[in-house]
Amino acid sequence: MKLPPGSTLPPLVQTLQMIRNPTGFLEGCAQRYGDTFTLRVLGKDSPPVVFFSHPDAIQTIFTSPDRFEFGKVTHVFRPLTGNESLIMQNGSRHQKQRQLLMPALHGEGLQRWGDLIQTLTQQANWLQDQGVIVQSQMLDLSLEIILRVVFGLQSGSRYQQLKGLLHQLLERINSPLYSVQFFLPPLQQDWGAWSPWGQFVRLRHQIDRLLYAEIADRRQDGLDHDDILSMLVAARDEQGQPLSDQELRDQLMTLLLLGHETSASGLTWAFYWLTQNPAVLDRLRQELDSLQLGDALTLAQQPYLTAVCKEALRVYPIALIAQPRQVKQSIEVDGYEFMPGTVLIPCIYLAHRRPDTYPDPQGFCPERFLKSLSPYEYFPFGGGNRSCIGMALALFEMKLILATIVQHYDFSWAHPLPQLQQPTRRGITFVPPPQFRLQFRSRITPSRSAILDSEIDAIYSPALD
Ligand code: HEM
Repeated sequence: MKLPPGSTLPPLVQTLQMIRNPTGFLEGCAQRYGDTFTLRVLGKDSPPVVFFSHPDAIQTIFTSPDRFEFGKVTHVFRPLTGNESLIMQNGSRHQKQRQLLMPALHGEGLQRWGDLIQTLTQQANWLQDQGVIVQSQMLDLSLEIILRVVFGLQSGSRYQQLKGLLHQLLERINSPLYSVQFFLPPLQQDWGAWSPWGQFVRLRHQIDRLLYAEIADRRQDGLDHDDILSMLVAARDEQGQPLSDQELRDQLMTLLLLGHETSASGLTWAFYWLTQNPAVLDRLRQELDSLQLGDALTLAQQPYLTAVCKEALRVYPIALIAQPRQVKQSIEVDGYEFMPGTVLIPCIYLAHRRPDTYPDPQGFCPERFLKSLSPYEYFPFGGGNRSCIGMALALFEMKLILATIVQHYDFSWAHPLPQLQQPTRRGITFVPPPQFRLQFRSRITPSRSAILDSEIDAIYSPALD
């Protein structure tokens, strides 16, 4: 089998380059080898990994789901999400699970969360003397949203405990020393509470205890709590069987792990680019200030707000790549025949930086999204039958949080940041530098200032009659 050209460096060196500077390494490879190239980044004896960014190749991959399998490549998530997770499934089992999860995350199911997202955004403390570390504030907010939307948890002791434990888990898996265990199964040894894997197992156990308690309560009270967990508890398969506790737990953990950090990072980028581009912020403000109605649905439909969020997910996509697809049945892509075992990767980062699709690809220009692009040119949420099931929720959440803050606050850098060299890795996402901090000030919007003026007039002007 003839593979596309690619790096001839030893696999370990390629892997280290990919870890150290993924965007620079991918860009260098694309310049040297073209649209399609081969790397050895999964270890010495592992299959070759081929990266693609041309829309035609992406289309072939996204529209040929039967040629690929997934579980083997996504195994690093297994200790966290469990065997029953959607991301561990293939074929018809995967499709059935998607059908079960989708309704809660789309359409009307989603809209009922609009008010809650706006209220939680307004309740967050934006007016801090030292400024706000944007990434951590967004993480807090998106964790709260996901605990309410997915788990249906209201404030109370279980909610507080789970929030604290999940926070700990997510912080730990973002530390490079801790997360390396997930990639190297021999390190996964429970040598007691002091060992890194022992700590992980104990933390997971505490989280599971709370999740299973919540699942048991739901099964018992039989009420519709209007959240994703309730929908899953009520769901039945073709034989009329409900999901097991283990299946419910694994799907909840999957949604949490894939849905929390990603949305927060998308928002952090949006704020980063808005502070760098005052003309874009002005245009966004004009759009939002001109609205008569501030309801969630009207806000989420605003074209420039939508374009700003899309562009924020283009320039530095949160996930640089879609899920790796391992060839199960040979397939031809971009003139090459790939044999079973080869791993193919749709490279979101490189596709989003193609100058033929995006003139001035480094520039932040939401206007390019006022016309539509194909799902093979723009795909921050991946594509085909494995595309992100949280896409609608993530975009809805991003738009509402961004709009609510832009409507209520002015913001500027708390400390000037050096020129961005490359995004910072946080777990599976790529974000602006961690020291990105903004100073927020309450804003008098034109509509609020009109109300204030009329109130002042009413107080000071003599009665007419
Ligand atoms: C800005 C936010 C987000 C981004 C950029 C993002 C991106 C992605 C990407 C690139 C994939 C892989 C798609 C593929 O391989 O074709 C994916 C898969 C997935 N995402 Fe998201 N995601 C986001 C938010 C969310 C949210 C909010 C949830 C759930 C609440 C979620 C749940 C999932 C799940 C379960 C999958 C696996 C789908 C499958 O294998 O069938 N994501 N996401």
